[in-house]
Amino acid sequence: KEHLRKGRTAYHFQPAKNWMNDPNGPLYYNGMYHLFYQYNPHGATFGTGKLSWGHSVSGDLVNWAFLGTALDPTSPFDAEGCWSGSATVLSDGRPAILYTGRDADDVQVQNVAFPKNPSDPLLREWHKPGGGANPVIPQPADVTGNNFRDPTTAWLGRDGLWRFAVAAEVGGVGSTLVYRSADFVHWERNAAPLHASPGVPVWECPDFFPVAGRGEVHGLDTSASGPGVTHVLKLSRAVDEDYYAVGRYDDEAGTFVPAEERDGDARNWRRIDHGHLFGAKTFFDARKSRRVLWAWVDETDGSSDDGAKGWTGIQSFPRTLWLDTDGRRLVQWPVEEIETLRRKRVALLGAEVASGGLQEVAGIDALQADVEVVFEIPSLEEAEKLDPKWLRDPQRLCAETGDGGVGPFGLVVMASGDMQEQTTVFFRVFRHDGTYKVLMCTDLTRSSTREEVHKPVYAGFVDVDVEKDRTISLRTLIDHSVIESFGGGGRACITARVYPEHVASGGRSHMYVFNNGTDPVVVSKLEAWELATASVNAEDGGFSGS
Ligand code: FRU
Repeated sequence: KEHLRKGRTAYHFQPAKNWMNDPNGPLYYNGMYHLFYQYNPHGATFGTGKLSWGHSVSGDLVNWAFLGTALDPTSPFDAEGCWSGSATVLSDGRPAILYTGRDADDVQVQNVAFPKNPSDPLLREWHKPGGGANPVIPQPADVTGNNFRDPTTAWLGRDGLWRFAVAAEVGGVGSTLVYRSADFVHWERNAAPLHASPGVPVWECPDFFPVAGRGEVHGLDTSASGPGVTHVLKLSRAVDEDYYAVGRYDDEAGTFVPAEERDGDARNWRRIDHGHLFGAKTFFDARKSRRVLWAWVDETDGSSDDGAKGWTGIQSFPRTLWLDTDGRRLVQWPVEEIETLRRKRVALLGAEVASGGLQEVAGIDALQADVEVVFEIPSLEEAEKLDPKWLRDPQRLCAETGDGGVGPFGLVVMASGDMQEQTTVFFRVFRHDGTYKVLMCTDLTRSSTREEVHKPVYAGFVDVDVEKDRTISLRTLIDHSVIESFGGGGRACITARVYPEHVASGGRSHMYVFNNGTDPVVVSKLEAWELATASVNAEDGGFSGS
């Protein structure tokens, strides 16, 4: 299994070889899931950015077949690259792609493409209308810095016109513009931007979608509107920060107003993920009536630029997401299809972990695993007071506080036999403002003995009522070079890439529950499954989707 030794994942999406970045045009169509992505068919680096759209299909979001490229930089309006974009299912059922072209003069413009044969269930070939149709939107005169890219999935307005949003630097201000069209080819710009955020000239990869009522897990079609529908705007900031706000979309004015003011600065919005994840894009999965999120998880091994591994970049495991009961926050959770990969299971029930305790979770291959654990906190007495200066800097709070208090407790994952290499995913509970605040961390500082690897501490606060619940849940997906964690039932997520030497050399990894807090905690329930290797873009085309 040579490829696994080089950090390849067993059930995360990645091409067999070459460079991949943003997810593009995720789509459910005629019983199949499609994922397109920024892809360099000629090598494992971004190179000059002259990218194609890679294309894979799946019956279950778990097993994928690679179909080659769907869009290549072959036309005057995309000669320097087919950059990010989205797919939309039109009213007649045909899908359409909107994408950014870097034209022959390296100017960013918006283009459309349609399937050559809409009755091909695999949508293998795509046609870019010529004859002057493309670019459908040339770069507007007030766009600065050549930043005009990443169109979203389109939605129908109440006037029956299609609309989509696109990131643009307008007079130096990071804006999201909206365009309207009756036929998907002729577009007119709205007078007002959907949103603008002074202070940041360039946002990338906007995503804009409706969510159902508070706590309702089902998703909505992107065109859904009316009472009970709330909208989410997500913006990405290079190269690992995705922010979102829940708010009110005014279809007539074409504007989005976040429900939380946050100084009018999108950099203060909530994070999709507190770790290393970028360019998130969602789609409505009509098969299961849910909204599903993909995101690019870049390499952080410090040597990816030379392309030595032959591949670069993975996608996060697809997550379903919905609006939490507070109406402000999203909840994210791995799609249930992951359970089809669950094999051997081990469990702990009601195990007390004393202060300083370390208990191994043995019996499964801890390099490809799905772990769900509920920690019960018998006493909050030892919780330390939170210095408010940390509220804006949870990463330093994680890095600088030692042991003791309530927590740190959590999981040690991808640990070498001698514990020289280990990654910890943990919680700490602090007193704050007459109540409690829960910090969640993924500490990579000891994840690898390799020097050049990026080994930060990732952190975020988890909005759970620990005083009432007395429990905190954690789910962690481990997959050779990625650790994706969901705290508090998916209210805070941390994704991290890891490159342990013991894994590279084919050694075994271990997993533990630990508690370095002052008082004991109880693992009221822990279940860990070894996950089977999915069939992901096998080079021989082996497709085992259901
Ligand atoms: C974000 C991004 C997009 C662009 C694409 C190019 O990662 O820079 O803004 O469309 O990647 O690959």
